[in-house]
Amino acid sequence: MKHRQKYAAVGTGGRLPMFADPIAGKYRDAAELVALCDTSATRRLWHKNRLVEKYGIAPPADYDAADFDRMLAVQRPGTVIVCTPDCTHHDYIVRALDAGCDVITEKPLATTASGLAAIDAAARRNPGRRVRVAFNYRWSPGASKVRELLASGVIGRVQHVDFEYMLNTSHGADYFRRWHSYKERSGGLLIHKSTHHFDLVNWWLDAIPEEVFAWGRLAFYGKKNAVARGQEPLTRYARYTGEPASAGDPFRLTLDDDENLRGLYLDAEGDSGYIRDENVFREGISIEDTMSVLVRYRGGLVMNYSLNAFCPNEGSRVAFTGDGGRLEYTAEHASHIITGDTDVKIMAGGKHLMKVRVQRLFSEPEEFVVHETPGGHGGGDPLLQEQMFADSPAPDPLGRSACHEQGAASILVGMAANRSMETGAPVPVSSLFPLAPGALRLSQLK
Ligand SMILES: NC(=O)c1ccc[n+]([C@@H]2O[C@H](COP(=O)([O-])OP(=O)(O)OC[C@H]3O[C@@H](n4cnc5c(N)ncnc54)[C@H](O)[C@@H]3O)[C@@H](O)[C@H]2O)c1
Repeated sequence: MKHRQKYAAVGTGGRLPMFADPIAGKYRDAAELVALCDTSATRRLWHKNRLVEKYGIAPPADYDAADFDRMLAVQRPGTVIVCTPDCTHHDYIVRALDAGCDVITEKPLATTASGLAAIDAAARRNPGRRVRVAFNYRWSPGASKVRELLASGVIGRVQHVDFEYMLNTSHGADYFRRWHSYKERSGGLLIHKSTHHFDLVNWWLDAIPEEVFAWGRLAFYGKKNAVARGQEPLTRYARYTGEPASAGDPFRLTLDDDENLRGLYLDAEGDSGYIRDENVFREGISIEDTMSVLVRYRGGLVMNYSLNAFCPNEGSRVAFTGDGGRLEYTAEHASHIITGDTDVKIMAGGKHLMKVRVQRLFSEPEEFVVHETPGGHGGGDPLLQEQMFADSPAPDPLGRSACHEQGAASILVGMAANRSMETGAPVPVSSLFPLAPGALRLSQLK
């Protein structure tokens, strides 16, 4: 059998199938999953059994998180996949690089400036090693179409961006049920979620952020807000599963009637203490659910960005104003709370709807409807999987693969926005981390 690339994954929760399944399935001739690592033995075993049963692979070795370094020494993977809660990414990335491995990490690259600095230092002392950030949104056909059109100069030089992202009361609410709802674990939604959006803008415009101002607050979720709206009864239980009083609560998520949620989370509570379905109207939530951000980029371009996590619909609306016209991109989609669920399952007959409208100055508008292709995120996920795991992936003329400095350019906007919300003042990105001081374009970052 020909030589296969060896992968080990740390973090065996809901997101693992994005990486483990293509390795074990479609790309099995080029790739091999040698080990799984997590703090929860139950979750490791659940995935191990699932992968062996579904793809007939040899069982990957199984390591507790405390044995991560031993796993690297014994299994000698070429690449480590980091898929743990956001605040732990930097630690695993640094240890993997120092052990001589390449890294594929889920977004966000890190949640703190010190975590980012540690990754950058590790990347510099291990120059032969590569860190890739799995920015799957870049690969969606709608986002790619926008990049193609803007790069063609169809609206001239872009001077302003207006970007609104809506999270609905299924997907949006899910961030308030578990670790994401604590700033120290996820960095808040401006890091955890908006890293995708800030990256898209950096990449669409080949731009590097320079200064950020933000306001944000917890306006909807949390006990205080529910009580103020007269919804005190929704705050009476700590979680939803096994709580008869939560029947009829539209925010209820129960772990016992979905096979995946039960196997991954309910059955693992004993060994991890991780409660996946905490009440979204409880005390102690420390992230915002409504945020407005202004970003100025090197070169002068400005973006006006907002994120709300309690909308009736899910999707985004982005308007680019250039000196030759305007481009508007709208995307509506269903929300996934379990990786692998399809839009069709969640939104009966539903599809990603991606529309691009271009109007040059003094001209009629032109509309493009972009069709989704099979696979998650409108067809973006399989394209990213091919880049990560195929022997010879298709060429990527749009430059959709992201290195660690490009990952940094995105999280730095969220970090600066968090700092600005604390201080009430604009925050220069360079005050957090000296990102390639001489560079003007994202594509110059390595
Ligand atoms: N790009 C996307 O569309 C997308 C979607 C979902 C999640 N994500 C990212 O994927 C990552 C994982 O998210 P998820 O939804 O799978 O979360 P999850 O909570 O389902 O899984 C996290 C796993 O990490 C384990 N873990 C916790 N602390 C650990 C530690 N210190 N060491 C080792 N393992 C630890 C948990 O036991 C759990 O199995 C996050 O970084 C998230 O931001 C990305």
